[in-house]
Amino acid sequence: MQTSFYGLPFMIAPGRVFSPRATTEPLVRRALDAIGEGRKRVADVGTGSGAIAVTLAVHKPQIEVWAVDRNPDAVELTRANAKLHAVAERLHVLEGDLLDPVPVRVDVVVANLPYLPDSLHDAAYDREPNDAVYAPGDGLDPYRRLLNACRDGKLVSPGGVVLIQFHREALVANCWELEDLRSRLEQRAEAAA
Ligand SMILES: C[S@@+](CC[C@H](N)C(=O)[O-])C[C@H]1O[C@@H](n2cnc3c(N)ncnc32)[C@H](O)[C@@H]1O
Repeated sequence: MQTSFYGLPFMIAPGRVFSPRATTEPLVRRALDAIGEGRKRVADVGTGSGAIAVTLAVHKPQIEVWAVDRNPDAVELTRANAKLHAVAERLHVLEGDLLDPVPVRVDVVVANLPYLPDSLHDAAYDREPNDAVYAPGDGLDPYRRLLNACRDGKLVSPGGVVLIQFHREALVANCWELEDLRSRLEQRAEAAA
């Protein structure tokens, strides 16, 4: 099966891997702006079908991308989509938790991780793997852990940029503004609860 994301065709695996949605396209637009023209290293955390990682690699031929997912089916599908778009040489697909498997320091981190608490059931995601959509507690732990990992300076360069999807919004911060990004995220989560 196929779908279209940011004007490109992507193979999907409904029920096994989260299918990309148009609501994530603004995140990609913001990431393309943040990348600019330089030879950047980019991480897509929780890559799913690889829609974000592949789209960035297609639009920015000068970048190298590391795409991570803990779901082995997502890793396999992302590799297939990278081949489909002839970007596999610059797109490294890794299985694991958040930024753990990424072997280099990156300049840009993009993520659309699970953020819904179980209490906010959304029928629009009923056909998606549960752990691609819902996270325990207030739902923010995956993002809190990611922001903590981005803070230590070893995984993300000091001038780096972090972009995350929350509901229909793309939240963006420089590395020195991650505390502010966490506050914005928590305020929005409280408002949505
Ligand atoms: C909402 S889906 C988004 C998929 C894709 N980025 C997109 O926008 O279409 C979240 C993805 O994050 C992955 N994921 C969840 N927790 C993770 C973690 N701790 N480390 C890596 N991947 C994770 C899930 O397996 C799922 O593929």
